[in-house]
Amino acid sequence: MSGASVSGSRHAHEAWSPERGQEIIADHIALEGATMPILHAMQETFGYVPQDAIPLIADAMNLSRAEVHGVFTFYHDFRHEPAGRHIVKVCVAEACQAAGARETSPKFEKALDCAFGETRPDGQVTLEPIYCLGLCACAPSAMVDGRLVGLIDDEAIAEIAAEVRS
Ligand code: FES
Repeated sequence: MSGASVSGSRHAHEAWSPERGQEIIADHIALEGATMPILHAMQETFGYVPQDAIPLIADAMNLSRAEVHGVFTFYHDFRHEPAGRHIVKVCVAEACQAAGARETSPKFEKALDCAFGETRPDGQVTLEPIYCLGLCACAPSAMVDGRLVGLIDDEAIAEIAAEVRS
């Protein structure tokens, strides 16, 4: 790969079940301000926060569903729908913008045939903007299924597009 590949991991997401949701809640309920950690753990486990999780969290936290829903929708990091099989996050923060992300971002959309913030209809890839991956020295940067890739150029984009076809 022409871009600098730094590190990475990918684990498959579990299918949602209320029982698993309750387990996650039980694991985090004792934490201070447990709503956010529970939402993060839900997304980590299922790849998104299922709508059905909201009433379970509300009951456990003694909050109204509207309050939990408000937290969920306020933070753009939380996905409302299952993610694609591959997740490509492209850094659009300042250092990457200065290093060419303004040009590479639309190229990602074209190469992956997917708009930012969306999952392709075939479910193969989700494309998301992200604000600094801590890889500014190798800007412009992206993350592919948890693996950091720096020095993004046309060749790297083509290789990432080929990777998400699998
Ligand atoms: S600004 Fe893109 S990795 Fe820091």
